[in-house]
Amino acid sequence: AGGSTGSNRSWVSPDWLTSLSRSLSGGGGGDSRIPYADAKLDDVSDLLGGALFLPLFKWMLDYGPIYRLAAGPRNFVVVSDPAIAKHVLRNYGKYAKGLVSEVSEFLFGSGFAIAEGALWTVRRRAVTPSLHRKYLSVMVDKVFCRCAQRLVEKLQIHAMDGTAVNMEEKFSQLTLDVIGLSLFNYNFDSLASDSPVIEAVYTALKEAEARSTDILPYWKAKEAFMSHFNLFEIPRLSLLLSHAPLPILCKIIPRQIKAEKAVSIIRNTVEELIIKCKEIVEAECEQVEGEEYVNETDPSILRFLLASREEVTSIQLRDDLLSMLVAGHETTGSVLTWTIYLLNPNSDCSVVTSRTGIKPLLPLLIVPAKCLFVPEGIVMSCIPMACDPSSLKRARHEVDEVLQGRPPRYEDVKELKYLMRCIHESLRLYPHPPVLIRRAQSDDVLPGDYKINAGQDIMISVYNIHRSPKVWERAEEFFPERFSLEGPVPNETNTDFRFIPFSGGPRKCIGDQFALLEAIVALAIFLQHMKFELVADQKISMTTGATIHTTNVRVVYDDKSEENTAQSCSILEVTDMSLHPLDIVIV
Ligand code: HEM
Repeated sequence: AGGSTGSNRSWVSPDWLTSLSRSLSGGGGGDSRIPYADAKLDDVSDLLGGALFLPLFKWMLDYGPIYRLAAGPRNFVVVSDPAIAKHVLRNYGKYAKGLVSEVSEFLFGSGFAIAEGALWTVRRRAVTPSLHRKYLSVMVDKVFCRCAQRLVEKLQIHAMDGTAVNMEEKFSQLTLDVIGLSLFNYNFDSLASDSPVIEAVYTALKEAEARSTDILPYWKAKEAFMSHFNLFEIPRLSLLLSHAPLPILCKIIPRQIKAEKAVSIIRNTVEELIIKCKEIVEAECEQVEGEEYVNETDPSILRFLLASREEVTSIQLRDDLLSMLVAGHETTGSVLTWTIYLLNPNSDCSVVTSRTGIKPLLPLLIVPAKCLFVPEGIVMSCIPMACDPSSLKRARHEVDEVLQGRPPRYEDVKELKYLMRCIHESLRLYPHPPVLIRRAQSDDVLPGDYKINAGQDIMISVYNIHRSPKVWERAEEFFPERFSLEGPVPNETNTDFRFIPFSGGPRKCIGDQFALLEAIVALAIFLQHMKFELVADQKISMTTGATIHTTNVRVVYDDKSEENTAQSCSILEVTDMSLHPLDIVIV
């Protein structure tokens, strides 16, 4: 295997896997100047621990901004260079979503987040106008503020009785409530209760995550399964499998039965909402008037889309809304969690990655079952992270000065410049998703003159680009001031693809403005009402599904002022300043 040191060889050596993969995939079949990453045993454990982006980062330091990664019979070209990312993302016609569509099709159906070609063009064009400025300003007031206030009310209860709160969970509930109301005027009310629909949404999301990690993608249509493993090139096996009942496995495997049930609950709920909304729109002969039309009683995107009278089937509408539900939920929840983590008043904290189970992000390596076992809780590595207590002070001061104690309005957001830069900096350090996946539709030549064959899978590591010392100064530090407060809001265009949290090119996130507004409103309200800090002796880990998750970020009531510092970070402590600032609760 390319670049092998040979010193760490064992029967499970990834050298062996790389060689196998290379021979199965015909040696990569592409530009020989793109080196193969030589995965060591430790890297495999890292992959299995679930934080895929960490070995990808390490290999970038070893092999440079473009390298190849063996993935069983396939291989990925991993890109960590802004110019190459720009080329791939902007040339939409030449690069399709590939693996992403394969793992989420069971949920998205024909939704435009994974659709290709003419269908994508038509549906993206139909949905874009619904996210206009007036809609966003109504959302700030009617939905974002109200849901964030509800979260604070919930946290105040915990603050009073001193129980620990998992903040990632709370932010995830908040963003689910927000997206439900904004999309179809449906109140999941997940901050207050559990319901079969919420349960189903989480089950389906987990299934999409699990599918991206399945070594044996038995849930694929047979043709796709066989091409995944290049089985068409092995005639006897191909013949044998052509008689095997692969998709039937989905009917008998419990995980698949559960997923199928979850998807039908979600679909039925959305279909019912569409029917009800359609009846109202028909009865009122409602029609979108002007570019910034909003229905006062129901300002949802569903209402806008129905009133715009576009030719669209209910199924397509359902799948488009589901695309937005999934794409807009956990992403924003994770941004909120990581931003308060980065703003926490303890200095000198670190993110610890640990192996928490068998959870590779993608079917990267086919390894013997034995080597998949990784004991829980082994500390893998420590990434120093400068958490500057002055950032929190400055953000809180800005919130107090701009808002003077009242809830934020749409017009206030442009004045909350520093808080917005904190969110951008959080998105730089913890991008969601950390990698973007594409598949070349035809032969191509990348900047740097690297040749790519049709069918090549490409992984753009946003995490690598955002943390590369060649791209950013003080790349590993949380330093919101790097984005000038007086300069433009950073995006892919004005940073020349050095900052791409919302991707770039035609398939850039449609909900970027929505998400930034939602996040800043939630954080402003949180900072107005709550004090928090991380307490000692709990490891905060990173794991990944579609986003980079924390594990164990919790909030607990405590009297500590923000000036106090704990030795190391773990649980987040919250003090409800308006209630009992002097009580002490030990958890
Ligand atoms: C696509 C990030 C919030 C809807 C994307 C992509 C990224 C992204 C990176 C491109 C994926 C790719 O190129 O393969 C984020 C982040 C968010 C966020 C970091 C939160 C901070 C939202 C919200 C919505 C949304 C709130 C809906 C209101 C979508 C949709 C797509 C998309 C529908 C697919 C667009 C298409 O293919 O045409 N998002 N997103 N996202 N996002 Fe977001």
